[in-house]
Amino acid sequence: MLAVAVLAAGKGTRMKSDLPKVLQPLAGATLVERVLASCRHLGPERQLLIVGHQAERVERSLAALGGLEFVLQQPQNGTGHAVQQLLEPLAGFQGELLVLNGDVPLLRPGTLEELLAKHRSSGAAVTLLTARLADPTGYGRVFADEQGRVSGIVEHRDCSEEQRRNTLTNAGIYCFDWGKLAAVLPQLTTDNDQGELYLTDTVAMLSQAMHLEVADPDEINGINDRLQLAQCEAALQERLRRHWMAEGVSFTDPASCTLSEGTRFGRDVLVEPQCHFRGSTEIGNGCRIGPGCLIENSRLGDGVEVLHSVLRDSTVETDCVVGPYAQLRNGAHLEAGCRIGNFVEVKNSRLGAGVKANHLSYLGDADLGANVNVGAGTITANFDGVHKHRTVIGAGSKTGANSVLVAPITLGAGVTVAAGSTLTQNVPDGALAFGRARQVVKERWQGATPSN
Ligand code: UD1
Ligand code: CA
Repeated sequence: MLAVAVLAAGKGTRMKSDLPKVLQPLAGATLVERVLASCRHLGPERQLLIVGHQAERVERSLAALGGLEFVLQQPQNGTGHAVQQLLEPLAGFQGELLVLNGDVPLLRPGTLEELLAKHRSSGAAVTLLTARLADPTGYGRVFADEQGRVSGIVEHRDCSEEQRRNTLTNAGIYCFDWGKLAAVLPQLTTDNDQGELYLTDTVAMLSQAMHLEVADPDEINGINDRLQLAQCEAALQERLRRHWMAEGVSFTDPASCTLSEGTRFGRDVLVEPQCHFRGSTEIGNGCRIGPGCLIENSRLGDGVEVLHSVLRDSTVETDCVVGPYAQLRNGAHLEAGCRIGNFVEVKNSRLGAGVKANHLSYLGDADLGANVNVGAGTITANFDGVHKHRTVIGAGSKTGANSVLVAPITLGAGVTVAAGSTLTQNVPDGALAFGRARQVVKERWQGATPSN
């Protein structure tokens, strides 16, 4: 039987934030979501989350996950005190307890599998994860022999100068035999620089204690302050970019682009500098994105080109060209081969195949048939101050420059709208609609004709 406990009760004083540390985001997911995700594939029988500082907020953020038991630690008197709170909920539990620090978010799932396998095969009372860090400042140091047997862990602040030179670092990830841990937990004391109960002190009380050293020290990066948050973000971004490059995506300037875990690319995508992909986003084969795009929770078909544009919650089908300087948002849906040009905003609208809206337009709450040509400056006036209304434009229609279509309004198929029109009434198929004053010319308005 396997139980997992995530320590997430701390305040994260060093972040200097109103947000509990474990709710800080990293590539679009909170630290605690990442930690939980790193162990889910192990199929634990129990998943316990130790909460304390802003416990309700942390619980609320994970409400959708299910299967979690929240254990309250009040006050927060150290990592050992946190795990002591499990004595009651895990009374009678037999098996391993995997303890994860809620602020160590870059663990690879395979690493935890390895830790568990090593723990089970060696029969140790505890097996902990370590790494050799170039700069282990702030971390606990692990004292171990050649065979990987651990004699103890000393926190950085409690170390002597000589002990600090040991670079074998405690990751804050442990696999315990729960029965043996439960027996020593009550013996912890606050005899240390912080006056807290340290989980790390149980290691010297248990026999045998072993460690597993990970090859990539980035995996055990803990986040205590904003600098470490930024460093972890950079490490994670590097991992995501490398993954997608290996899958056939080209980045002209990889370091200038950021991805989310939920970003998916097809093959032969070219990502130019300064492009950012967020949320759950899918980019089809052969797309060319950037420079300068933000694409969030959107789906792009094959062969789409986007330049200097912002796309959110939108769908763009094959071979569309978007930008420069376009915004698609809130359910914009472009069917195949549309062209959306500079300073055009499309919101909650469906554009049929081959629609062109190349300059200076707002299409909001609209349904456009295939091959509609939206003239420069066409605006759907969708809001009457209280409600939003829809604009419908039939296939093959053309709107002249500076048309204002006051919704609700329906233009049939093949309609032509004269430039500068404000239309408030429906227009039947094939008609030409004017909605503007006739031009008036008054000659000699300034008196005599000016002489040169
Ligand atoms: C801890 C380890 C250190 C290790 C490092 C790895 C101890 C004593 N030290 O130090 O050896 O190198 O992690 O990142 O364990 N928490 C609670 N309740 C508390 C205190 C903390 O739930 O009362 C949680 C925090 O929310 C956090 C985790 O435990 O998720 C670690 O706490 P933190 O204070 O960051 O420990 P470190 O000083 O980093
Ligand atoms: Ca920490």
